[in-house]
Amino acid sequence: MNVWRKLSGPRRAVALAGASALVAGGLVTIPVTAAHAATQCDVSYTTNDWQGGFTANITITNIGDPLNGWNLGFTFPDANQRVTQGWSARWSQSGRNVTAQNESYNGSLARGASTTIGFNGSWSGSNPRPTSFTINGVTCNGGTPPTTAPPPPTTTAPPPTTAPPPTTAPPPTTTPPPAGAKVDNPYLNARGYVNPEWKAKAESVSGGNRVSNTPTGVWLDRIAAINGTPDSQSNGPMGLRDHLDEALRQNAQYIQIVIYNLPGRDCSALASNGELKADELPRYKAEYIDPIAAIQGDAKYRNLRIINIIEIDSLPNLVTNTTGNAGGTVMCDTVKANGAYVQGVGYALAKLGAIPNVYNYIDAGHHGWLGWDTNFGPSAAVLREAAGASGSTVANVHGFIVNTANYSALREPYAKVTDSVNGQTVRQSKWIDWNQYNDELSFAQAFRQELISRGFDRNIGMLIDTSRNGWGGPNRPTAAGPTTSVDAYVDGGRVDRRIHKGNWCNQAGAGLGERPKAAPEPGIDAYVWIKPPGESDGSSREIPNNDGKGFDRMCDPTYTGNARNGNNRSGALADAPISGAWFPAQFAELMRNAYPPLS
Ligand code: BGC
Repeated sequence: MNVWRKLSGPRRAVALAGASALVAGGLVTIPVTAAHAATQCDVSYTTNDWQGGFTANITITNIGDPLNGWNLGFTFPDANQRVTQGWSARWSQSGRNVTAQNESYNGSLARGASTTIGFNGSWSGSNPRPTSFTINGVTCNGGTPPTTAPPPPTTTAPPPTTAPPPTTAPPPTTTPPPAGAKVDNPYLNARGYVNPEWKAKAESVSGGNRVSNTPTGVWLDRIAAINGTPDSQSNGPMGLRDHLDEALRQNAQYIQIVIYNLPGRDCSALASNGELKADELPRYKAEYIDPIAAIQGDAKYRNLRIINIIEIDSLPNLVTNTTGNAGGTVMCDTVKANGAYVQGVGYALAKLGAIPNVYNYIDAGHHGWLGWDTNFGPSAAVLREAAGASGSTVANVHGFIVNTANYSALREPYAKVTDSVNGQTVRQSKWIDWNQYNDELSFAQAFRQELISRGFDRNIGMLIDTSRNGWGGPNRPTAAGPTTSVDAYVDGGRVDRRIHKGNWCNQAGAGLGERPKAAPEPGIDAYVWIKPPGESDGSSREIPNNDGKGFDRMCDPTYTGNARNGNNRSGALADAPISGAWFPAQFAELMRNAYPPLS
């Protein structure tokens, strides 16, 4: 899989312009309830500002009746604010009044669907945000952005006679859950399932028994994995039922299953391409999700918390890796246009979420991919869209997972985005490159708030995959770098020792991260090991196989890179087998560089 995505054009322009003088960008999310019952919408307006100019991204989510054509209107508070160039809508401005009329391809918005548009603008004096928006002429007076969860209602309202729209606040937490309902955090005080197949591989490497009893993800990475695939390089003979039965035998309280077989999988890379072609959504539903749902729904497993990790590295590709972005691919265009990812994820959520003891966590990339303004809000919007697709609702989503199969550090104690060196923000260092985050914990917590502001339940929890983000060993810095320049400061102090944040394949120097732990920080349900340490991200040279896996040069240590990793070396380990296959040399190195260290 490939887990860093190229910055899009506008963001790059903003970053360069911002290097001279950066003014704080702003985010405002305005839940809009129109006076007319039929038109209800949610508008988020995010800007990235620099002296005299800015980029605005606007996501319109339809939470009312289906829209067939829309016209967004708002008024700039300041007379000097201008739209200079817009995209994904037909823009016009008269005085301070701005309108954006849909394009032919994004005019239809089903209930729950959203679309993202944007523009470059200019300002002088100040660049305040509009305070209200209209859709189709209906004035929508906004509230303040929901930066914190609203308190539960103090009075008990009678039950609504019709189903509330998906963005309606969830029931107050003070109401006891009905019998059989899900718990808030399925990891809390619960014993996790240890996959015997991974345990055996871990114990085949000297010292592996120190971590071999750790719960790791069970990856259903092909249809045949549901029943077990003894002949595959990356799965053992155990199928889904075997794992669930073994979980009962272990008296485990939760098991982590990875749903990973979308049509046109890994659309922006090659190493984890799968068996289903881009147009095989019907097979995904009938031959993959339906049989998994039938097994997970077996009453014999009803007391086991089945945690599904849904489709790693999929949905944000629709924002960052279509061909409108530098380095984008036609395959990402295809799966965006035909709905394979959005409809596929929606179907998985709906089918699996209907089982009372199932907990769905959707993949949400990582900070080195989505941490830029142009990627952050739009990716949250696409996740929200998928949660409402194929008959699903946000109620089927228990939370999100970040950093699966990536190497981003959990915390960067000596290089924080808020630091500055000689009056210059460290965000302008090469390593951070204007990202709003420099570690996974801060990103996960902020992204959670963004998701809630877009209509997800305010009780959602985040998971952070810490299987390979430890960055310990002799090269781990113990203090910030010298203050001679922002680059010296950040490069000297960062614990993530990768050559570039865009590197994602079998990274040299990485270590095991935090051992799995429930409720470690606010908003975080758990640190987890979903990518089983020691399983390869991709082969370092072409290896013929029957699994659909391609050869991605980002896994080749001799590769000197491309636009997506700033034309740097890949930083990958040599002699790696295909993705998912056991790579003992990597496992040994991960143990050596573990942080916290292994005793
Ligand atoms: C591979 C899968 C594998 C998973 C876990 C992915 O990169 O594509 O085949 O099951 O990693 O190792």
